[in-house]
Amino acid sequence: MSPFQLTRTLPDDATGAALRADVLHGLTHTPKELPPKWFYDARGSELFDEITRLPEYYPTRAEREILIERASEIATATGARTLVELGSGSSEKTRHLLAALSGPVAYVPVDVSESALRGAATSLLAWRPELQVHALVADFTRGLALPGTPGPRLVAFLGGTIGNLLPAERALFLRSVRELLGPDDALLLGTDLVKDEEVLVRAYDDTAGVTAEFNRNVLRVIARELDADVDPEDFAHVALWDREREWIEMRLRARSALTVKIPELNLVVPFEEGEEVRTEVSAKFRREGVRAELADAGLTLAEWWTDRAGAFALSLARPTA
Ligand code: SAH
Ligand code: TRP
Repeated sequence: MSPFQLTRTLPDDATGAALRADVLHGLTHTPKELPPKWFYDARGSELFDEITRLPEYYPTRAEREILIERASEIATATGARTLVELGSGSSEKTRHLLAALSGPVAYVPVDVSESALRGAATSLLAWRPELQVHALVADFTRGLALPGTPGPRLVAFLGGTIGNLLPAERALFLRSVRELLGPDDALLLGTDLVKDEEVLVRAYDDTAGVTAEFNRNVLRVIARELDADVDPEDFAHVALWDREREWIEMRLRARSALTVKIPELNLVVPFEEGEEVRTEVSAKFRREGVRAELADAGLTLAEWWTDRAGAFALSLARPTA
């Protein structure tokens, strides 16, 4: 069997149809909003990788520190023979886990970005040619059909990506993950933690402007895919801390009064000067909140590890008996 298989679980025009529905809904909604998964075309995935290397963006380094420290503990505790990773992106940090798992291991990276999956598989297989890679191009919020690789399975969801779901979406998502797990399987969840506002805002508004480019990329995707008349440069990047909901909110702010036209959707969207579109939230967590959200989904928190600075946490959870 070839060590690399890629399965597209999305119908051919799923992307186009879902993008049209999301844009139509989001830009006619008050306040205006766009869902975050549309950041990640090939360029978006590259920009995100650049974000992970920025001095201000601490989550990647903090999570890597925990993974390096705990990989063998995780391997022993789970005995995993299949590692499923949701929103795997470049799969860079994942190597620490894969290196710790013993025996023949299957790796099932799941991402909406096919280019990210192909790039990650190519470099993983150069590193470990015997690895079985079953990549899935899929939306992890839409119910997953996993390949029949050997158990136990460890499902990893890293990078704090769970914070990019709204609380109600998070609850549904965790339930669906619970449904994927057998009694011997486990979930490894990365969550960024509540901390000093300045540190948080800087991580989402870097001085080099990479995050701003990343944020505007959603408009580039819309311009290209929907032939929309919109200039991303007409919008400024905004990142702010919502202290009540304990999330960072990313927005795009119209620099002047303007109209976005999308003839394909029969859509003309007026913006006043300063009017904003919400593009993403990035929720920050506390241990008790994570424990409670897992419990609501039928998952029991077994381990909670943080980096030395206490910036980020990795949780290991199992189906509640
Ligand atoms: N896990 C990596 C990447 C995090 S960025 C890390 O920790 O660095 C979030 C990743 O999730 C991106 O690769 C993006 O393409 C993917 N993604 C975002 N929304 C998704 C969805 N609904 N379904 C599947 N993948 C998604
Ligand atoms: N999961 C990442 C996070 O919340 C995604 C991310 C980082 C992001 N920087 C961003 C999303 C900027 C949108 C804009 O940290």
